[in-house]
Amino acid sequence: MYTSRIAGMGKFVPENVVTNDDLSKVMDTNDAWIQERTGIQERRHIKKGDGNSTATMGVKAAEIALERAKISKDDIDMIVFATLSPDYYFPGCGVQVQEMMGIHTCPALDVRNQCSGFIYGLSVADQFIKTGMYKNVLVIGSENHSGGLDFSTRGRGVTVIFGDGAGAAVLTRSENEGQGILSTHLHSEGKHALELSLKGPSTMHWVPQLIEENPQEDIPYYPYMNGQFVFKNAVRRFSEVIMEGLQKNNLEVGDIDMLVPHQANLRISQFIQKKFQLTDDKVYNNIQKYGNTTAASIPIALCEAWEEGKVKEGDTVVLAAFGSGFTWGSAIIKW
Ligand code: UT7
Repeated sequence: MYTSRIAGMGKFVPENVVTNDDLSKVMDTNDAWIQERTGIQERRHIKKGDGNSTATMGVKAAEIALERAKISKDDIDMIVFATLSPDYYFPGCGVQVQEMMGIHTCPALDVRNQCSGFIYGLSVADQFIKTGMYKNVLVIGSENHSGGLDFSTRGRGVTVIFGDGAGAAVLTRSENEGQGILSTHLHSEGKHALELSLKGPSTMHWVPQLIEENPQEDIPYYPYMNGQFVFKNAVRRFSEVIMEGLQKNNLEVGDIDMLVPHQANLRISQFIQKKFQLTDDKVYNNIQKYGNTTAASIPIALCEAWEEGKVKEGDTVVLAAFGSGFTWGSAIIKW
């Protein structure tokens, strides 16, 4: 019986730092509001001409992950790429990574599960490794939000939250039962699909039609979020899916060494921390520096927690995410 373990992690964020004060120069917002409601102090945005894109950032994170895993790109059996902001409508970023990294003609799968994308990707990779089909799978989460946000006051409820960046993990086969990914838990509830969505351009909403049908003040080619509704669902689903994972493995909240929640809003993480009575050293947050990087947020946070020595061999690590779809999920890992 095989299991999979994370052999190496990498992260990459663009150099360009955008502070709350920077945003308040282009829209009616302020540092106090953003910090109080979200915890965010700054985020990274791709700068025109800096060479970064969703795929290239994914490659940079993946190269670091491979180096740390001491696994050659020639030994990668599959690429799983999670993003809501691909470079092209089609094809997906997975094939771009395969080409850019000079990986042989392996399967490349794109995952479209937004904030839960990395956990969905991890779960897919884990299943392929557990069945014995593949030995090493590269899982990437990467986002270029800044290119598609509304920087006028109209978009402030969404735009201040999101940031750009990428994280990657190399999953490898392990024969040590009880080590690595113990279980993953995935869910969706499509009835709330449009509560956090980008309607177009899409096959149902091509640009000419969007412009014709919508008055200037309601432009659906920017992301829409029903913030409070999403917030309420997030705290509920985060709690449920963490408990589901713990119960599946006969673990208790007290067994968690590190919880890495999707970095949606610091208040959501704090709510979960309080509910589960976890001490500060058992919950990792970095939304203050990077904002919400959607599919990249968990791998960036997990990578950083590992770099800081906060995730160690033998630790019980819990990952949990919730986002557009709605989709949500968790992963229970013995590091
Ligand atoms: O990652 C995927 C999952 N995403 C999430 O889980 C996000 C969940 N939601 C949230 O994080 C929060 O709902 C937000 C941070 C998006 C918004 O915070 P809120 O406390 O729910 O604020 P609100 O939307 O209820 O807005 C309160 C007020 C409004 O003004 P009025 O109507 O009270 O006069 C907004 O117009 O704040 C105003 N507002 C802002 N003011 C300054 C909204 N955005 C801003 C802004 N700066 N950026």
